[in-house]
Amino acid sequence: MENLDNLKSEVLKNIQASADLKGLDEIRVSILGKKGQLTEMMKGLGALPLEEKIAMGKGLNIVKSEIEQALEAQKKILEEKALNEKLANETIDVTLPVRPETQGRIHPISKIYEEVAAIFGEMGFDVADGPDIEDQFHNFNALNMPNNHPARQMQDTFYINDNPEKPFDMDTAYVIRTQTSGVQIRTMEKQQPPIRIIALGRTYRSDYDATHTPMFHQVEGLIIDKNITMAHLKGCLNNFMKAFFELDDLPMRYRPSYFPFTEPSAELDIGCKVTKTELKIGAGTDWMEILGCGMVHPSVLRAGGIDPDEYQGFAFGMGLDRIAMLKYGIPDLRLFFESDVRWLKHYGFTPLDISSMTGGLSDNGGLAR
Ligand code: DAH
Repeated sequence: MENLDNLKSEVLKNIQASADLKGLDEIRVSILGKKGQLTEMMKGLGALPLEEKIAMGKGLNIVKSEIEQALEAQKKILEEKALNEKLANETIDVTLPVRPETQGRIHPISKIYEEVAAIFGEMGFDVADGPDIEDQFHNFNALNMPNNHPARQMQDTFYINDNPEKPFDMDTAYVIRTQTSGVQIRTMEKQQPPIRIIALGRTYRSDYDATHTPMFHQVEGLIIDKNITMAHLKGCLNNFMKAFFELDDLPMRYRPSYFPFTEPSAELDIGCKVTKTELKIGAGTDWMEILGCGMVHPSVLRAGGIDPDEYQGFAFGMGLDRIAMLKYGIPDLRLFFESDVRWLKHYGFTPLDISSMTGGLSDNGGLAR
């Protein structure tokens, strides 16, 4: 009995002193396990005379349950301690910005490409492509701008001298395309109507100031089918403008204009307010020209191998840099192409915000600013 008391007080002391769950379990096994001290003592009961057996059995049971309780209590304390330590080590401050901070930014022009393709894609347009270095047939002649046509002077063209050995011939030299309109011809050459494409790309003219750079971007649109009318043109472009500027009541007007490749031709203006300090789209009484458009000229269809007596369509062309400046309030076009990372960080977009008609174009919190 005395042994039992000593064992009990020693074990209880050890339990209280144990500092971790593993140590505590070792104590449990050494006392209560198959070969534990208390278990052995219980096994020894059988050899005792009856009275001692009863007394000793009682005592053993009491000590056993005291030890079990002490083990249980210490286990709780140690578990809580372990949990607290784990929590302290794994602290997450959900108010901190994401780390590592995303470094890359999507350039506003790439964002505009994405937005324009998302909107026209939703309307069923395919995206077509053409080369930056273009022959004059596709850039001019097939678009009803033959040599010496005055409209050629509307665009300050870069000509390429591809063979310095030969005298330069302005009429046959390649150009770097002055407009994406040539993709109209390239598409017609490849595909019979119905045609419904946009072409996004770089274009080049010899021009340089705050709103003009020698390289800039355009989107061209072309629809050809049997019964296409000016009403389709208006419906399509009105819808595009509202979606792009994210304004349902955007004021718009079509003004008669001239382009060699369309007849009739028009320019689309959007309503805005222009003051010295601000430019607000969709408000005020001023108008700003935003794109050129019209019904495809029969000569253009013919040049593309399409019968104008059977098919007709509409086309449009729009400067993307301009609408990027308008939509995102970027004042100077030249900075678009200077590769200044501070500028890009300010005006760029986070890479994972993909523009879509259902998920949002640009108003989905994607602005890095
Ligand atoms: N290519 C014209 C330009 O660069 C824009 C344009 C106007 C394209 C009318 C078209 C159109 O397709 O129909 O100024």
